[in-house]
Amino acid sequence: MSDLLRIALPKGRLGEKVYQMFDAAGYSCPEILSDTRKLIFENRETGVCFFWVKPSDVAIYVERGAADLGVAGKDILLEYRPEIFELLDLRMGRCRMAVAGKKNFRDDPSKTLRVATKFPNIAGEHYRRQGRDIDIIKLNGSIELAPILDLSDVIVDIVETGKTLLENDLEPFETILPISARLICNRTAYQFRGGEIGAIRSKLKQQVEARA
Ligand code: PRP
Repeated sequence: MSDLLRIALPKGRLGEKVYQMFDAAGYSCPEILSDTRKLIFENRETGVCFFWVKPSDVAIYVERGAADLGVAGKDILLEYRPEIFELLDLRMGRCRMAVAGKKNFRDDPSKTLRVATKFPNIAGEHYRRQGRDIDIIKLNGSIELAPILDLSDVIVDIVETGKTLLENDLEPFETILPISARLICNRTAYQFRGGEIGAIRSKLKQQVEARA
């Protein structure tokens, strides 16, 4: 496996769509979609191998060189600021980072705002820019529960369809950032395997542009 270009894909629906893009670009590995416990899928002809990782772990694999390329959400890149190169906006997995809370919530600027989130750096930066005093409550999932149970006043979280907010009587108040999936690259790999990486990037870019 040592000579193959290693590509970390985010497990789940987004990752499957991203794999289809690699497939269409000529880097196919059909076994990856089969029901198997195998972790690494090689295509010696095209010189690549793929593996699925937890979406929030892709950037770690790429930053540390366990993967040469990967696909990660802009949310993860902004939150953890990994030392990688961002090569391409794949314009998929689109969603937004937003502030949300109970419909009847009214902010009282004289009080510290309690903010529940999985993204303390993004949330912290957002409120620092506004000069707002906040108390960050770091959670790992089901963020929407926090304002409902009065653990927080608001949440800073990903909104995709808006269904989770709607079904829990919450509403978005403000968009912080648009988010989409990015092709990312290990810095050393970019230096030493720039030809192969550049070829993959341009084939994916053609698909992104054809979709626009
Ligand atoms: C994400 C996010 C919201 C939900 C938004 O959660 O944290 O809860 O998706 O999607 P929607 O606007 O389409 O309803 P995820 O499914 O990743 O699970 P989590 O609760 O473990 O964070």
